[in-house]
Amino acid sequence: MPNHDQDRSNVSDRPAAIVIGGGIIGCAAALELIKAGFACTVLDQGALMQEASTAAAGMLGAQVETHEPGPFYKLCRHSQELYRPWTEELEELTGITAEYVAEGILRVALDEEDEAQLRSRLSWMRGAQWLSAEQIRAAEPMLAPEVRGGLMLERDHHIMPTALAGALRAALVKLGCRIREWTPAYRLLQHQGRIAGVQTAEGPLYADVTVLAAGAWAPVLTEPLGLKLPVFPVKGQCISLRPEAPLNRSTLFAKSCYIVPKRDGTALIGATQLEVGFDKRTDAEAVAKLYRKACALLPAMRDAAFVRTWAGLRPGSRDGLPFIGTWPEAPGLIFAAGHYRNGILLAPGTGLLVKQLALGEQPALDLTAFAPGRAAGAAGVSG
Ligand code: FAD
Ligand code: GLY
Repeated sequence: MPNHDQDRSNVSDRPAAIVIGGGIIGCAAALELIKAGFACTVLDQGALMQEASTAAAGMLGAQVETHEPGPFYKLCRHSQELYRPWTEELEELTGITAEYVAEGILRVALDEEDEAQLRSRLSWMRGAQWLSAEQIRAAEPMLAPEVRGGLMLERDHHIMPTALAGALRAALVKLGCRIREWTPAYRLLQHQGRIAGVQTAEGPLYADVTVLAAGAWAPVLTEPLGLKLPVFPVKGQCISLRPEAPLNRSTLFAKSCYIVPKRDGTALIGATQLEVGFDKRTDAEAVAKLYRKACALLPAMRDAAFVRTWAGLRPGSRDGLPFIGTWPEAPGLIFAAGHYRNGILLAPGTGLLVKQLALGEQPALDLTAFAPGRAAGAAGVSG
C-alpha cells in the first residue's frame, strides 16, 4: 500500500480494498474480499442497493436470458449454481431471507417465429424441455389460449432483490466492512503506475485493490485513464399487481414481458427497455403497456389490484456482456461493471471472480470475452 500521509485511516495489517459502488455487484465483491482477509470499504454516491439492484425483478435467468452457447452462458450457469448456497450462507449469517423461490421460468411462444427460435435452443441448452399447447396449459391453467407452447426452464429460479439487499447490508456490517454512503468516488488515484485508491470529498482513500462496480456510472471513472468503457444506462420500468390468488406458479416470460409471482402474493411485471440517459422517471404509458401485455398472457390479471410502479437503470453494454477483469494500463484496478440485464444472477459469480483476481489467483472461468479493454482494442487480462 502506498505510504501517503494524507489519510491513513484505512491502514491496517490486512491488505486494503475499496469497492466503488454499493449495488449488488459491489456488495457481492466486498463480501468475498472480506472473507478472503481484505480490510474492505464500500463507497456509494447514494445509499447502498438503491439503484438498478433493487429495481430488478430478481430472476436468476441463466437460460431464459441466453440465446447461444458460449462464455456468457458459462458465466451465467456458474453464478446460477452458486446462488442457492450463497443466499443460504447470507441467511445463516444475518437471519434475513432473500426469498428464494425454486420454481422455473416458462418461456412462452406466441407466434411461429418465436417458437422456432425457442425450439432451436433445445440442441445446446441442458435441462430445457419443450411443452406443447396442451402440456403448457396443464402446467399453467390460467394462460391465454393464444400461447402455443413454450420452453420450461426448471433451473431459472428467482429471489426478491429488496430482501436480498437487506441480507447483503447486514452481512457486510457483521463482517466488519466499512460502508460509506453518500460518498462519491470523484476519481481514481494513481501512484507509481498503479491505481492506488480514490479521491473523495473527505480526502484520498488508498488501497491495494480498487474495484470498479459503479454500474451505469462506471465510464465516468475510467475516462480520465483513457478508457472509454462502453457502459450506459438502459431504463427499465416495472409494475406490481396483486391478484386475489396467484395466477401462475412458474415465472412466465414472453418476448417483451415477464410475470414473476413473488412470495408475498404480488405479481412483478416487467420490463420496458429504453436508452434515455440517467432518467428514472416512471410514466403512465409504460404502466398501461405492461398491464396490457400481462393481461394478454394471463387474462385474469385484469381483476388484480395495482400496487406500484418503479424504474431503474440497467448498466448496459453494446455487446451485452459485462466487463469483468483487469486492464494492463491500470494495474490495481478490477472491473466489475456492465452486467446489463443479469446483474442479480451474476452477483455471486462476479464476487468470486473479483476475489480471485484480487488475490492473483487463476479465475474460475476464462475472462477473455469480458476483458475491460476489448472495446478499445486493448487486451484485457483473461486470467
Ligand atoms: P447498481 O445497482 O446500479 O449499483 C451501482 C452503484 O454504484 C449505485 O449504487 C451507484 O450509486 C454507485 N456509484 C456510481 N458511481 C459512483 C461513484 N463515482 N462513487 C460511488 N458510488 C458510485 N438482473 C437479473 O439478473 N435478473 C433480473 O430479473 C433483472 N431484472 C431487472 C429489471 C429491471 C427493471 C432492471 C432495471 C434491471 C434488471 N436486472 C436484472 C439487471 C440488474 O438489476 C443489474 O444488472 C444489476 O443491478 C447491476 O448491479 P450493479 O451493482 O452493477 O449496479
Ligand atoms: N432481466 C430482466 C430485465 O432486465 O428486465
